[in-house]
Amino acid sequence: MGMFNTFRSVVQFREFERSPVKRRLSGIADVDDFRAVAKRRLPAGVFDYIDGGAEDERSLVRNVTAFGDLEFRPRILNDVSRVDTSTTLLGKRVPMPLALSPTGFTRIANSQGELAVARAAQRKGIPYSLSTMGTRSIEDVAAVCSGTKWYQVYTWKDRGLVKEMVSRAEMSGYEALLLTVDTAVLGRRERDVRRGYTLPPKIGLDTIIDGAVHPGWTLDFLRNDPITFANVSSAEGGDGSSAVNLSQYINSQFDQALSWDDVDWLRSIWNGPVVLKGIQTVADAELAAQSGVEGIMLSNHGGRQLDDAPAIVELIAPVAQAVGGRIDIICDGGVRRGSDIVKAVSLGATACSIGRPYLYALGAAGEAGVDQLLDFFESGLTRTMQLCGVNAIDQLTSELVSWKR
Ligand SMILES: Cc1cc2nc3c(=O)[nH]c(=O)nc-3n(C[C@H](O)[C@H](O)[C@H](O)COP(=O)(O)O)c2cc1C
Repeated sequence: MGMFNTFRSVVQFREFERSPVKRRLSGIADVDDFRAVAKRRLPAGVFDYIDGGAEDERSLVRNVTAFGDLEFRPRILNDVSRVDTSTTLLGKRVPMPLALSPTGFTRIANSQGELAVARAAQRKGIPYSLSTMGTRSIEDVAAVCSGTKWYQVYTWKDRGLVKEMVSRAEMSGYEALLLTVDTAVLGRRERDVRRGYTLPPKIGLDTIIDGAVHPGWTLDFLRNDPITFANVSSAEGGDGSSAVNLSQYINSQFDQALSWDDVDWLRSIWNGPVVLKGIQTVADAELAAQSGVEGIMLSNHGGRQLDDAPAIVELIAPVAQAVGGRIDIICDGGVRRGSDIVKAVSLGATACSIGRPYLYALGAAGEAGVDQLLDFFESGLTRTMQLCGVNAIDQLTSELVSWKR
């Protein structure tokens, strides 16, 4: 009895959390946890479309694991009582060096889709990128997000369509264009091949069974307006309102003849910054800088296009040596923690950008999940800087990190 009393005096019982979303979120500590919950809640085909990569998925894995090949050279006894994580990205002050990458078909993770992610980005003050293959329109996203927005361009063979999208983006206040240059044809994502996966998922017996074991997702999917490619409704190949095979669709619509001349063309129809998304060599980074674009995203599309493309974090230092200071360098792929941002910026990146992490968060817990994810990145960035003895982004230099091998 005496012991019980002692025990009771030190144990404090938590109040039961009534909100199921908050309960779910309270058990999530990192991106892997968001991924595990998303895997449980989403139909397998949807989860694999988000989570998967091209062929043997080696680039997908290396993008993430290569960050673990770096270690810090932390400094001590510097005043870190106050940390300023803000920096300048594409000429604009941002609260931290992080942006959200464009992802097509965001609404398959949660019916709010792009609107939820854009609202969460605005609350944090970080840039949100809307995909050409987005499932909310340029205008609808702008209506809920007055923060920094970028528009990602895929070049349709029909240039009239591209021009129309670009002028809609301009009218709606998007500030930069990301021209994706790694998708002449769609990479072979073999998880999707095995499932005969279409977008939106076709309803067959397997989908119904899958739906029955994922009731939350299924109700959300059925209760809301049909998912379509909201920005290309006038495209010849359709807007996705009837199920399409993504690789057939993309391979017939996208222009395989895309070249540096088209970068000039894009410039001629757009006044703001242009960023080339999908640069993977120093040579192309040099050409990009010469072409006069404002930025590049070092990216292999999250390992979804060419397998055995280089791990993104390994590209940063050589590219920064060649073009750093002339154009902004965004590290896109495999960023899973605030400490990854510290590593990338120390190596010479201007900022980082994330895709899957926010899709996992959206699938796991909707908009509140994305809020928690962005808090996780922000606090991880701040804490890592403090533990490394730096208190401002411009103190992140190559002296702070080294490769383990
Ligand atoms: C489900 C999914 C859809 C994507 N859709 C697009 C897209 O429409 N356009 C594009 O340029 N990149 C797209 N990407 C690539 C992302 O913009 C980004 O490059 C990639 O996710 C970064 O890697 P990470 O997932 O490791 O953060 C997509 C990625 C995923 C996971």
